[in-house]
Amino acid sequence: MRGPQGILRLGTSFWASRVLLSAVELGVFTELAGGALEGATLAARLGLHARGARDFLDALVALGLLRKKDGRYRNAPACDAFLDRRKPAYLGGLLEMCGVRLFAHWAHLTEALRSGQPQNEAKNGGEAFEQLYADPQALRTFLSAMTGASMSASRALAARFPWRRYRQFADIGCAQGSTAVQLVKAHPHLQGLGFDLPVVQPLFEEYVSGFGLNGRLQFVGGDFFAAPLPSAEVLLMVQILHDWDLDKKQLLLSKAHAALPPGGTLIVVDAMIDDERRRNAFALLMSLNMLIETSGGFDYSAADCSSWLKRAGFRQVRRRALAGPYSMVVGTR
Ligand SMILES: C[S@@+](CC[C@H](N)C(=O)[O-])C[C@H]1O[C@@H](n2cnc3c(N)ncnc32)[C@H](O)[C@@H]1O
Repeated sequence: MRGPQGILRLGTSFWASRVLLSAVELGVFTELAGGALEGATLAARLGLHARGARDFLDALVALGLLRKKDGRYRNAPACDAFLDRRKPAYLGGLLEMCGVRLFAHWAHLTEALRSGQPQNEAKNGGEAFEQLYADPQALRTFLSAMTGASMSASRALAARFPWRRYRQFADIGCAQGSTAVQLVKAHPHLQGLGFDLPVVQPLFEEYVSGFGLNGRLQFVGGDFFAAPLPSAEVLLMVQILHDWDLDKKQLLLSKAHAALPPGGTLIVVDAMIDDERRRNAFALLMSLNMLIETSGGFDYSAADCSSWLKRAGFRQVRRRALAGPYSMVVGTR
C-alpha cells in the first residue's frame, strides 16, 4: 500500500489534474509553442491575474509540463508535440472536454454510485448524445475529445492488424474520423467509410480534408440502432460498445454480424478491463466515466467481449493488446 503521503497525494491529485486542464483551456502550451517567454509576458498573454500566475506556472514546472530557465518558461517536449492546438498531433481535445464538462460531472460520483444514474447533461432525462449534439460547440468539443482519447489505440490498430489482406473497412461510430485517418495514412491501399449520426458529417469532412484524404474516406450518416450497418470486409467499433447496456451491446454485435460478408472481420476496441479486474485502473475508471456519462454503459474485459462475439455468431474470436489500457477483440463471420 502507499503509506500516508501516497494516500494524501492520490486524494489531492485532482489539484494537479485541474492545473493541467486549466493550462489546456487557457492555451498555455499553444502560446509557448512559439518559443520561451518571461513569466510576466506569458501571464499577460494568457490574461492571468498576478495573484495566482506565478504559482500556476511554477506548478506546471513542478509537474513536469513546463521547463523554466532564467525566469523564462517553455514547453516540455511532450506538451509541445501534443498540446499545441495548431499541431495536427494535438491531443488536448479530450482534456478540453474534461475541463469544461467531466470535471464538474465527476463531482457527483457519489450520487451516481448511490443512484446508478448519469450525472451529465442527461441527468434530467434523455440520452447524452442527443443533449450534447444539440449544441454545436459541445458537439465539436466532444468529437475532438474522441480523437484525443482513441489516437494511441488507433495507431496501434494500424500497426497490429494484417491490413494488407483487406481493401476496405467501415468504422461504426467514427466521430471526426481519427481512426479511419490513421488507418488509411498507414496503408495506402485501403479505402474507408465512416458511419455516424448525420449531424457529425460536416465535422468528419472538415477533419478528413485537413489530411487531404477525402478521396479515400467517405461518410455515411445513420442511426446504428435504427438502420442496418454498412457492409465492408472489416467493421470497426472503437469505443462504441462501452456506451451501452448489455442488450444494446449484443444488438450492435448481431447487426455487425449481419452486415459482414462471410469471412468478414469485426474488430472491437475499448479500454478493456483485465480479466481478473484488478490491474487496469484506467479501464475501471473509464467504466465509472460511463456511469457518469450514460444511462447503461460500462467497460468490460476481453473475456466478456469474446463471449458476446461468440453469442452473436462470430468464430475464431481472438484478442490482442493495443496501446496502454486499450485492447482489441477480433472475430470472423
Ligand atoms: C465514444 S464515441 C467513439 C468515437 C470513435 N470511434 C473514437 O473512438 O474516437 C461514440 C460514437 O458513437 C456515435 N454514436 C452514438 N450513438 C449513435 C447512433 N445511434 N448511431 C450512430 N452513431 C452513434 C457518436 O456520435 C460517437 O461518435
